[in-house]
Amino acid sequence: MRVMVLGSGGREHALCWAIARSSQVDEVICAPGSDGIARVARTLPVDLASVGAVVDLAKREGAGLVVVGPEDPLVAGVSDALAGAGIPAFGPCADAARLEGSKAFAKAFMARHGIPTAAHELFDDPDRAEAHVRALGGPVVVKADGLAAGKGVTVCDDTGQALAAIREVMRERRFGDAGAQVLIEERLLGEEVSYYAICDGERFVPFGAAQDHKRALDGDRGENTGGMGAYSPTPVIDAAVERSILERVVRPTFDGLRADGHPYRGVLFCNLMIRDGEPRVIEYNARFGDPETQPLMLRLQSDLVPLLLGAARGRLPADARVELGEPAVCVVLASEGYPRSYPTGREIRGLEAAAAAGATVFHAGTARSGDGWVTAGGRVLGVTARGADLASACERAYAAVDAISFEGAQHRRDIAARALARPA
Ligand code: AMP
Ligand code: GLY
Repeated sequence: MRVMVLGSGGREHALCWAIARSSQVDEVICAPGSDGIARVARTLPVDLASVGAVVDLAKREGAGLVVVGPEDPLVAGVSDALAGAGIPAFGPCADAARLEGSKAFAKAFMARHGIPTAAHELFDDPDRAEAHVRALGGPVVVKADGLAAGKGVTVCDDTGQALAAIREVMRERRFGDAGAQVLIEERLLGEEVSYYAICDGERFVPFGAAQDHKRALDGDRGENTGGMGAYSPTPVIDAAVERSILERVVRPTFDGLRADGHPYRGVLFCNLMIRDGEPRVIEYNARFGDPETQPLMLRLQSDLVPLLLGAARGRLPADARVELGEPAVCVVLASEGYPRSYPTGREIRGLEAAAAAGATVFHAGTARSGDGWVTAGGRVLGVTARGADLASACERAYAAVDAISFEGAQHRRDIAARALARPA
């Protein structure tokens, strides 16, 4: 079978890498892909913003399965259109993808189905939003309602920060129309985790958990980013917490979507805050996480493709299973200035040495230049390693990170550090 993956980032590199290992797969295509991904897949240009172009390409290439990496094509209805053309697509229909595409929709859905989340209010008028945060007077979270590549959220310690965030999102429109409405949310406390389940519309199988590091700087300081590193599994989720996540969040979400007439096919990614063992939903995503997918794929021992294909066809195999091996850690190397503007074209050195140190380096934003590589994105590389335990996975990942250099490179030194510091 020929599998086509849509996207071009580190997550898609990891997905292509895992899919290429399947015995069911003859060829992996990635559209548009990247120079880094071209090492494990045939890459083809496509405009992901055009659903029609994606469907035409999938037809022309005879794709037996299309795996959708990022959220925007899902929200635009690419899965519906592919299904209409008879091509199984891994990723939910547009109606179900609204769980990610509109925070206001997700909040209303959770309220309707009794799923625990932060208290919130929605505003389309900046004056009223400002009056609201002044009245609350404490730590809040300000969120642009629409899609903003994970960056439209400001976690505020005080009213001054909240007012600045409202100005940036609503008045200055840093995220364009995504800031036409804002949510002002209660700030949740606890440990943040990512939990994944693969769904075929009728049933789901738990895929596992990871912990992302969203802030730019060590100690969870600095701006929110798309994610600066991740590890899996996480000690925050023991068997009891996992049961509670499945019962209180995953099951009611899945059932709720079905009851609302939008059965979910694809990966349901629940971004959760865990406090005293109780999960609350920060947000839903309709796709795999980036960079969480990088350590998850490195851990995966079973074949990914029967799961993806089964979910896409609405029929997970009866014996569907997810076997995850040793812990893995991914450290993101990002460009100077990320998550704001950043330079590109800086020469990357040390990739061979990183591989020799035992890491798998997934490319997020790189380009070929002559015989070498240069930076071409905000997040540049996901340096990922496995180990007998989390500590050795971490050691191996950082040994590889230290082998790589480019001008202005930034990364966090404390990926997985909190997990390692936890009392056993
Ligand atoms: P979101 O795009 O909604 O996932 O928000 C991005 C990040 O902001 C999350 O991954 C959290 O780290 C943080 N965040 C969002 N909402 C809240 C909240 N209500 N309380 C605390 N942190 C939050
Ligand atoms: N790493 C978080 C996300 O993919 O949304």
